[in-house]
Amino acid sequence: MKETIRYLAGIAGPSGFGSNSTAEQVTQQYSPSNNLTALITGATSGIGAETARVLAKRGVRVVIGARDMKKAIKIREKIQEESPYAEIILLEIDLSSLASIHRFCSEFLALELPLNILINNAGVYSHNLEFSEEKIELTFATNYLGHFLLTKMLLEKMIDTSNKTGIQGRIINISSVIHSWVKRTCFCFKDMLSGKNYNGTRAYAQSKLAMILHAKEMARQLKARNARVTINAIHPGIVRTGIIRAHKGLITDSLFFIASKLLKTVSQVRLSLKWTTIAIEFAVFI
Ligand SMILES: NC(=O)c1ccc[n+]([C@@H]2O[C@H](COP(=O)([O-])OP(=O)(O)OC[C@H]3O[C@@H](n4cnc5c(N)ncnc54)[C@H](OP(=O)(O)O)[C@@H]3O)[C@@H](O)[C@H]2O)c1
Repeated sequence: MKETIRYLAGIAGPSGFGSNSTAEQVTQQYSPSNNLTALITGATSGIGAETARVLAKRGVRVVIGARDMKKAIKIREKIQEESPYAEIILLEIDLSSLASIHRFCSEFLALELPLNILINNAGVYSHNLEFSEEKIELTFATNYLGHFLLTKMLLEKMIDTSNKTGIQGRIINISSVIHSWVKRTCFCFKDMLSGKNYNGTRAYAQSKLAMILHAKEMARQLKARNARVTINAIHPGIVRTGIIRAHKGLITDSLFFIASKLLKTVSQVRLSLKWTTIAIEFAVFI
């Protein structure tokens, strides 16, 4: 409760930053001269696009994994208008397709770049029951399974990079506070894969809980290996992006109507993106 009030009021925490701090403010004093490379999924809009912008502005080489290359090219142009020397590499990936993730990883690894930061950000909310090309429920396939496979395929590269550079690697899973809506009795992998009795919000919440469980288990495994790579799962705050607009329904609409005064608009996102702040702190600087 105390934390919620602090968040809503924008009161700064021990770090000196609060929910109203901007990503730019948080990163102002840092100028990473370590040639960091960050890979971010879903950076063609919303939270991911802003994260890519701020990372690039701070001199991080950014690899954007996107399913829509036209959108990705536009985002790159926009970032480079502000940061002309930003190095931004675009590679195609559809997180809902295991085959596409395999292709993406082959292309990325063939570039022989280091990998310091992996931000598993792409996400969907699907109101209706849909399936991926491998016949897996779409929300679970995109938000969780895709990122699970991506992380697995890039982990050795991250460990290798951290060993060679002495810089700790960072993986960040973007979860959501909505994960707590999942009842213990409802979290069943079999149901998620078959999509029976589909409910969009439940599917979304389950996928976000899976992101947290993935981070916890992976953190345990990384520690056991003494790997210089950490993994964290975070809630980005509530930002009015594409994913929020996709949540339709009486209860959700009413909740968002009540909360509308508290939601950050897309233009405010540029100024006060709590997630970007946290992610960048986790990813690069802490
Ligand atoms: N906004 C919030 O309040 C909030 C709260 C909690 C958590 N989150 C999480 O934050 C993350 C970012 O969401 P956002 O709010 O910035 O929403 P957004 O503006 O809708 O962005 C979602 C991004 O994911 C990409 N994406 C979706 N499906 C994909 C796929 N199959 N393959 C590759 N990319 C795909 C989208 O690409 P396209 O441009 O091609 O559609 C887009 O770039 C998500 O994981 C979301 O669950 C958001």
